Amino acid sequence: MEYKNLLVELENGILTITLNRPKQLNALNIETFNEINRVLKFADETNEVKAILFTGSGEKAFIAGADIKEFSNFSVKQAKQLSKNGHRTFRKIEKFKKPILAAVNGFALGGGLELAMACHFRIASDNAKFGQPEVNLGLIPGYAGTQRLPMLIGKGNAMELLMTGDMIDAQRAKELGLVNSVTTQEELIPTAKKILKKIMSKSPLAINGIIKTVNAFYNKNKNGFKTEVDVFGESFGTDDFKEGVSAFMEKRKPEFKGK
Ligand code: CAA
Repeated sequence: MEYKNLLVELENGILTITLNRPKQLNALNIETFNEINRVLKFADETNEVKAILFTGSGEKAFIAGADIKEFSNFSVKQAKQLSKNGHRTFRKIEKFKKPILAAVNGFALGGGLELAMACHFRIASDNAKFGQPEVNLGLIPGYAGTQRLPMLIGKGNAMELLMTGDMIDAQRAKELGLVNSVTTQEELIPTAKKILKKIMSKSPLAINGIIKTVNAFYNKNKNGFKTEVDVFGESFGTDDFKEGVSAFMEKRKPEFKGK
């Protein structure tokens, strides 16, 4: 499949999606969103894809936000549609059945931080910078930054970042819980792949169940406790559960089939 703004590589079950507009610091334009939707569909439908890794090309940026030049003349109507479309794509990422990790390798600003926050979790290299600078443009975040940032770092911390538009470094992002760990630039992708490899050795059904259940906690229309009862119960009807328990009894490593 051909992509203009993404580099896509499938290796050992991990689909690495690299935002690739380095001259624009990987800013998200509409064409890139269309390609992200396309690659997510491919990843969903392809059995060989077991996990996804998002990162940015070049040494400077993960994604420096929505493409400001593209939306500079948008009407109110167009801006609402842009926001809705962004929400839809990022919700797909959040709800994706296979694990999605963001490896933040530089600026993660505005829509870039919003994409990283939609991923299931994040790690960063020590040169990464995070922020929601939309206030500097007379805007608020449009790809759910006002919703996911408080969810991840609490209301007070989120309010401060959103209202000041300040950038924070990787260490501060770790202190706030925005990223789970910080590595050198060289170690970022190997570390991300190592984490995903470990997750891929577990039951894909259980991983999917965890994504669904944890997301339910943050969904006002769902009862996460009830979701847990259902997903936990349903696990007992799977081959993966039988395999996991048999392997434990037989003191061997389980081989999960995702069935
Ligand atoms: N959109 C479009 N182009 C962008 C961009 C963006 N978000 N961010 C950077 N670029 C472009 C610059 O215009 C520049 O292009 P030219 O060489 O053609 O002028 C190129 O990338 C390199 O950028 P800089 O020269 O500015 O690089 P720098 O190292 O001096 O600064 C930066 C880096 C601090 C990230 C700075 O580029 C910057 O502040 N970018 C904008 C960040 C921003 O405001 N993001 C939020 C966007 S709005 C949004 O995302 C809304 C939403 O929630 C939906």
